[in-house]
Amino acid sequence: MINTAKIKDFVTDVILSPKSTNEKQQIICDFLKNEVPYYDWVGFYFKNGEKEELKLAEFAGEPTEHTIIPFGKGICGQVAVSNENFVVADVHSQDNYIACNIDVKSEIVIPLFLNDTNIGQIDIDSNTANAFDKSDVHLLEHVNELISDHMISNNISINIS
Ligand code: SME
Repeated sequence: MINTAKIKDFVTDVILSPKSTNEKQQIICDFLKNEVPYYDWVGFYFKNGEKEELKLAEFAGEPTEHTIIPFGKGICGQVAVSNENFVVADVHSQDNYIACNIDVKSEIVIPLFLNDTNIGQIDIDSNTANAFDKSDVHLLEHVNELISDHMISNNISINIS
């Protein structure tokens, strides 16, 4: 079981702290990876300017060569197009999947909306099969909402370069 209340409180405090958006997102990635045993890689991808592709921003876990993902490609690229959550119990069952690490068995991608626009996503890989359930979905939707609400209230745009 994940301690949803603890994570939400931590993320709220980070968001309200006087740090840059990039620092906050890095702290959130590090915290989620350390706090939840089955979160083995945690990262944020955002739309890369005007291009129809995602660019990796902050992450915690092994570096990946997939720092740019075209819209439509892989689980992440599909979420960029569908605007829907994507929970994958078994990544090997997916034809349209980009492997970052051979140990990964399941994945969750939750889009991040600024007003009604899908500007990016949080992506989590697990080395445990079928690791994610509704509690992860609700938690990560909440994390993304905290980030986007803060961006809207403070007129912040994404800067990942
Ligand atoms: N597996 C993702 C690629 C990103 S890595 O997990 C870090 C995908 O299929 O889009």
